Amino acid sequence: MADSDENPERHDSAGNEGGVSVAQMWGGRFEEGPAEVLWRFTVDHSDRRLLDDDLTGSVAHVKMLSAIGLLDQDEADVLEQGLGSIAVEAREGTFRFHDADEDVHSAVERRLGELVGDVAGKLHTGRSRNDQVALDLRLYLLRSSSERIAQLREFAHVLMAVAESVGEKVVPGYTHLQQAQAVPFAHHLLSYVSTASRDIERFEDLGRRLDVSPLGAGALGGSSLPLDPDRSAHLLGMEGRFVNSMDAVAARDHVAEYAFACVQALVHLSRLATECVLWATTEFGWVTFSDALTTGSSAMPHKKNPDIAELTRGRAAIAIGHLTGLMALQKGLPMTYNRDLQEDKAALFAIDDALAGALEAMTALIADADFHPAAPESSVTALDLAEALVERGVPFREAHHAVGSLLSALFTDGRTLATATAADLAAIDQRFEAEDVVLTAPVESVRRRRSTGGASFASVHEQLRMLRDRLA
Ligand code: ARG
Repeated sequence: MADSDENPERHDSAGNEGGVSVAQMWGGRFEEGPAEVLWRFTVDHSDRRLLDDDLTGSVAHVKMLSAIGLLDQDEADVLEQGLGSIAVEAREGTFRFHDADEDVHSAVERRLGELVGDVAGKLHTGRSRNDQVALDLRLYLLRSSSERIAQLREFAHVLMAVAESVGEKVVPGYTHLQQAQAVPFAHHLLSYVSTASRDIERFEDLGRRLDVSPLGAGALGGSSLPLDPDRSAHLLGMEGRFVNSMDAVAARDHVAEYAFACVQALVHLSRLATECVLWATTEFGWVTFSDALTTGSSAMPHKKNPDIAELTRGRAAIAIGHLTGLMALQKGLPMTYNRDLQEDKAALFAIDDALAGALEAMTALIADADFHPAAPESSVTALDLAEALVERGVPFREAHHAVGSLLSALFTDGRTLATATAADLAAIDQRFEAEDVVLTAPVESVRRRRSTGGASFASVHEQLRMLRDRLA
């Protein structure tokens, strides 16, 4: 990461070391330099992480300017070399931001001036920081989409590996947090692979809308210069260019959409996190997380806390707030660029970091966990017992009532469904058969299940095949 000046200076035209100063960038009509209070309030360093993207955009802009004859070959070469040197500085962590740099765009232009002299003043030809920041953000989002997709894939693969390793282990599936139906534990785990595969699709889908270059929109209305936005887009390897220059600089819906893709993935992780916390309780006892991925208590020596899962839930909560912020940020803005939009970056990066961090940590937590889930209670087979009657032509409502009566009789005697005998069944309804007794074993419920996509062992195998295919 590039670092910054330790000592804030006064922000006047003398405020930096020989490059393009604030006053030189937009100070022509100003009689005095910016006040300390203005600077403190308006400058936000979060855009520094767009440095690479800003350089990528500037190189393409130089090439376009040279193609349309606004830069001669020598000038273009000098500018590209200068930008290349800055890219090296960025990579090596030696690029220094100055206190007088208003934003990442000004910092690059200032540094370019230091490196190549006056010709740096030609870089901003036919460009505004408005189309520049719009481009930088799109390039950033395209990069980070692929990173999030790769992380989601890895997370999904880890879950699939666990699903395979737990074999035919049967657990209670819950509704209302009450034991409902017997399911293979693998089926439960794969439900999160299914959500992850949609989370990946969301990032892939929005790529189409991200991959549009706003370069050439200028401040808002294009230019009297013969700019070639198609060429810029092509040089950037982007799918296409903007259609309307005002929309190009004002739009942030793709930022919100990216943020939503992140937040929805975080919300899915958060649901898994809640289950991890629950499963790790003494009461559940379904999982043991590794020592290295849990934390201790400063007070209670016995504690081993699932902080990764809890913080995933907490970060999801804060990210939802930032997503709401991004929507609110757009809603009252007149066309086109307004400085309010600068605030999109801190919110966006916070959301992106929350997802990146949670995916990394949750993937590690799951990969290293020892799962030993408990067997269901026998009542989870009640629906299957009713369906045995339905197969013999009994209307489902009658079958439901019969099993309900059986349970009521057993519970009154302090018994469970597992203790039901053929005689108990017959006493409730003559249409029960002696062999139905075996149905009161949860594993038998799972063995009999045959509906497509249901919680059966065959379905688990099919899902693993489909999901591996989709996530390949
Ligand atoms: N730092 C600004 C932002 O992030 C860049 C665009 C500035 N444009 C302007 N007209 N002041 O939004």
